[in-house]
Amino acid sequence: MTSKSNLTINPQRLWDALMETANFGATAKGGIRRLTVSDEDRRVRDWFKAECEKLGCKVQVDRCGNMFATRPGKRQDLLPIAMGSHLDTQPTGGKFDGVLGVLGALEAMRTLIDMGYETNAPVMIVNWTNEEGSRFAPAMLCSGVYAGVFTPDFAYSREDREGLKFGDELKRIGYLGPEPVGSIKFQAMFELHIEQGPILEAESKVIGVVTGVQGMRWYEVTVRGQESHTGATPMGLRKNALLGAARMIEAIHRVGMDHLPGVASVGLIENRPNSRNVVPGEVFFTVDLRHPDEAVLDRMEADYQAALPKIATELKLELEERRIWKSPAVKFAPDLIECVRHGASQAGYSTREMASGAGHDAAYIARAAPTTMIFVPCLGGISHNEAESTTLDECGAGSQVLLNAVLDFDRKFA
Ligand code: GLV
Ligand code: MN
Ligand code: MN
Repeated sequence: MTSKSNLTINPQRLWDALMETANFGATAKGGIRRLTVSDEDRRVRDWFKAECEKLGCKVQVDRCGNMFATRPGKRQDLLPIAMGSHLDTQPTGGKFDGVLGVLGALEAMRTLIDMGYETNAPVMIVNWTNEEGSRFAPAMLCSGVYAGVFTPDFAYSREDREGLKFGDELKRIGYLGPEPVGSIKFQAMFELHIEQGPILEAESKVIGVVTGVQGMRWYEVTVRGQESHTGATPMGLRKNALLGAARMIEAIHRVGMDHLPGVASVGLIENRPNSRNVVPGEVFFTVDLRHPDEAVLDRMEADYQAALPKIATELKLELEERRIWKSPAVKFAPDLIECVRHGASQAGYSTREMASGAGHDAAYIARAAPTTMIFVPCLGGISHNEAESTTLDECGAGSQVLLNAVLDFDRKFA
């Protein structure tokens, strides 16, 4: 039997796994384009499944493509302790967002197995499908189905901007599994992730002890004017949908500025017909509002919704606006947060308590089981960017704290 002091993860092996899987969807600028349920996603899933099976883990896939790799514990009567995140990326994503949480968990599992350490409870790695939500909105789609926030049919019916359906694409890549979503249970989940913001780096701290996730709301807006000739239509007689969208984007920015530390963003815009000598007739764009306090988020929503019709009327435009998603602010489980604090101090790492600005599968899983997160720094706080960068040592520190926290949680079952 191995003593706990031997349970040191191998940062180089973790790094090698990160770099190997970064080839699935590698971009010229050093990032990853691995949109959910794409061929690249299938390749990384196949790799992950094979590696887990090599370790002797049982790999199960549910009807939303969520993947669960389990190693039994000493006791049959306990549900697994899960470690999970996501392997999908943004269209111009980095190598660490989500991937670190899955591969850091794989490294923790490899360490347990190498050392022959038997946990009391089973230990499980989860790859949640479509955390990013950039191809099929909303984000955290399949952890949301797992937690009962969405139905599987809602997930299957989501369409990307090309009109392809999530359910058809999931089936096409061979990951519409047999298990009912939510039927593969665990008793707790720890999610390791890069911070995606600048605080840990600015304060020279190694580990973020995450206490919760801020509230998020997503909207879709279509502005309609009239396509007309740019040369022949006098300025005063135009119905320019893009001008309307520009003013609306400015107003949305102001909503964020007026409710700091709230944030308000437009990230996706489609201008039609997008021709250099046509006054734009229609613009579609997406809106993302976030704040840690739901009451303030309500006020942000009200300000945003009041601003748009005014602009549309001034410019003689038609407006269609709707909220497509709402994820309330979340507080993580105090006993799991304590395991993370303890796990970091056991490894000698400095810590900083923080709330997450980004959305995570943990935010939905917190409704199904006690959950928390561990953050590590990322260079310049930059994420959702091909230049996203975190060092071998930082990745290793995160995986070590993940393992320590899981073992700390497991100790009470001895
Ligand atoms: C997911 O990455 C989000 O925070 O939008
Ligand atoms: Mn992520
Ligand atoms: Mn992300």
